[in-house]
This record gives sequence, structure tokens and C-alpha cells, in this order.
Amino acid sequence: MNKILEVKNLRKIYHTKKDEILAVDDFSFDLYKGEFVSIVGPSGCGKSTILSILCNLIDHSDGKIKFNNDSKIGYMLQDDSLFDFRNILSNCLIGLEINKNLNQENKEYVEKLLKDYGLYEFKDKYPDNLSGGMRQRVV
Ligand SMILES: Nc1ncnc2c1ncn2[C@@H]1O[C@H](COP(=O)(O)OP(=O)(O)OP(=O)(O)O)[C@@H](O)[C@H]1O
Ligand SMILES: [Mg+2]
Repeated sequence: MNKILEVKNLRKIYHTKKDEILAVDDFSFDLYKGEFVSIVGPSGCGKSTILSILCNLIDHSDGKIKFNNDSKIGYMLQDDSLFDFRNILSNCLIGLEINKNLNQENKEYVEKLLKDYGLYEFKDKYPDNLSGGMRQRVV
């Protein structure tokens, strides 16, 4: 089988001003092409931390991570992190703005995605006016 990800003895310690928090300890798994894997555990056991490490959003403290292909990965963050002062369309465009990639073609593509996700009629609304599920779809 085609192994696309190997995680071995992953460990993550968060350092705060007051103390150290062991969030992930000795976590190992392999992921094969076509597999559907769930990470299940009680609140605070380190699930989001593992995903953030795999997506390179935070560093790990110890262990090995090996991706055997170069596909781009990402994950749907638990917190939608929308900017409450920007409307839905402008929340969707912020990545393009920051990367200086905002042009008419990209903007039209974002508008098409908003239509596909049933959000187009809310494009001028602000995050406060959307349901939790709608906010997640904006992300
Ligand atoms: N930025 C941080 N700084 C310090 N400690 C953190 C930080 N993020 C998470 N933690 C701690 O790391 C541990 C794991 O947190 P994590 O968010 O990975 O848990 P989780 O399994 O995703 O929980 P939930 O199911 O509630 O979303 C928790 O004890 C949490 O308090
Ligand atoms: Mg979580």
C-alpha cells in the first residue's frame, strides 16, 4: 500500500509563562492513500494540536513526521477566526489581499465558491449574522 504519512513518537509541549503543558505524548500513526482516519479522544487530549503540527502551523517538540508526497494539506480550524469587522466577501478575499493576488478573476472565483456553498446572498453580511455552520463554510 502507498503510505503517504508517517508520524512517529510525536510530542508537543506548550511553554507558557507559568508552566509547561504536555499536549501530545508519544503519538504514532501511519496514513495510507485512500484511508479515512479519525482521531478521537476527550477534550484537551491534543487532537487540534496534532492537526496544527501536521499542517505546519506550530512546531513539535519531539518525534518524526514524514510526508511521502508533496500534496498541499490544510484543515478546517475548530474556531472559524472570521474578522467580525469585515463582511463575508471581504473575509473570503483577505488571503488573496495579503498575498497580493487579488484580481478580478480570483474575485469571481471566490464569488462562484460562495454560490456553490450557498453563501452568496450573505456576501454583504457580517459574521455575527451567520449561523455557526455558515461561518464554518466561509472558512
Ligand atoms: N496555545 C496553547 N498554549 C498552551 N497550551 C495549549 C495551547 N493550545 C492547547 N493547549 C493545551 O494543550 C492541550 C491539548 O489541546 P488541544 O486543543 O490540542 O485539545 P483537543 O483534543 O483539540 O481538545 P477539544 O476536543 O476540546 O478541541 C490542552 O491541555 C490545552 O490546554
Ligand atoms: Mg480541538
